Amino acid sequence: MTVNFAMIATGRIADNQLAPAVTEAEGARLWSVFSRDRGRAAEFSARHGAASPAPAHDDLDELLADPELDAVIIASPDKIHAAQGLAAARAGKHVFAEKPMVTDRADGRALVDTCGGAGVKLGVAFHMRWHAGHRALAEAAHAGRFGTLRHMRVNWTQRQPDASNWRASPEVGRWWSLGGVGPHCIDQVCWFMQPEAGEVKTLRSVIDNSVWNSPHDETAVLVMHFENGATAEICTSMQFVSPKRMEVYGEEGWAICEETFGYDGDGRIWTDRGELDFPVHNPYVGEVRDFVLAVEEDRKPEVDGEEGLQNVDLLLRAVGA
Ligand SMILES: NC(=O)c1ccc[n+]([C@@H]2O[C@H](COP(=O)([O-])OP(=O)(O)OC[C@H]3O[C@@H](n4cnc5c(N)ncnc54)[C@H](OP(=O)(O)O)[C@@H]3O)[C@@H](O)[C@H]2O)c1
Repeated sequence: MTVNFAMIATGRIADNQLAPAVTEAEGARLWSVFSRDRGRAAEFSARHGAASPAPAHDDLDELLADPELDAVIIASPDKIHAAQGLAAARAGKHVFAEKPMVTDRADGRALVDTCGGAGVKLGVAFHMRWHAGHRALAEAAHAGRFGTLRHMRVNWTQRQPDASNWRASPEVGRWWSLGGVGPHCIDQVCWFMQPEAGEVKTLRSVIDNSVWNSPHDETAVLVMHFENGATAEICTSMQFVSPKRMEVYGEEGWAICEETFGYDGDGRIWTDRGELDFPVHNPYVGEVRDFVLAVEEDRKPEVDGEEGLQNVDLLLRAVGA
């Protein structure tokens, strides 16, 4: 079986990571492309070898009317995901949405329910779940290797040159650092901690926007307290560069991941028992392959709409919404 995907938007992540991953992932094929500009869609289609005889679209309904199209990958700015996902689900297409899945709870619930009602899959693109080292650690943690997890710390920051990024303004963005890298940080903490830790009963945050006076978070520091008493700290920022790092502390062991967050599936991981060796795989191929298998096997994707919605709920709580 081949799943024909349409790429919705032609920006950085679509061009550099998602389209190449669709080309590489077994059972996936780039079929068509949507852009606000048909010429851009045509260039993107040619560059990535989209297979439809008429691959380039600037009208979403026209693209979705194609009976040979199976699924869409939504790689547009955050506030646009919901409307595009709803349109795709209503047209009977599976939806694989970039993180954050949506930007408010009502939209998220509507998207989950509409996909469920239409009998299509809804998955969220958390490629860090497919980092081979993180995956090995998470599996070990869930098998009890570290004992009950008591604490995690995640740090992912970068320095932006200015506030021109769409995430910094409310038109199509809802969060800045929390939208750019925050969803991954929160997802890793929840993935490692849950279900044992239960729900996040308390989330406190400090948000700073003093460098560019952006309406959105430039730096965010989150403290999470789970039902079983476990805790987590997350720092995201667009104001400064720092080593990307994740620390996992259990009652019977610990693990540190350094420079593992990013595009390439690399970095270094060590634990209380020494270095952890892992193969360097493209994590975007992993997430696309998983979505293909979810369609083929009629099972839930690695991160489904409910988990995507939990992630959005925590992002909203972080900014007091
Ligand atoms: N998982 C990851 O590793 C990862 C990494 C980066 C981004 N993302 C997610 O992917 C999505 C896209 O991020 P990106 O970094 O690729 O952004 P980007 O480079 O700015 O691209 C976004 C694209 O969306 C389209 N678009 C539609 N309306 C727009 C508007 N009003 N303003 C700007 N662009 C608009 C544009 O494509 P057209 O001109 O063709 O319409 C644009 O190229 C976001 O949700 C982001 O969180 C995920």
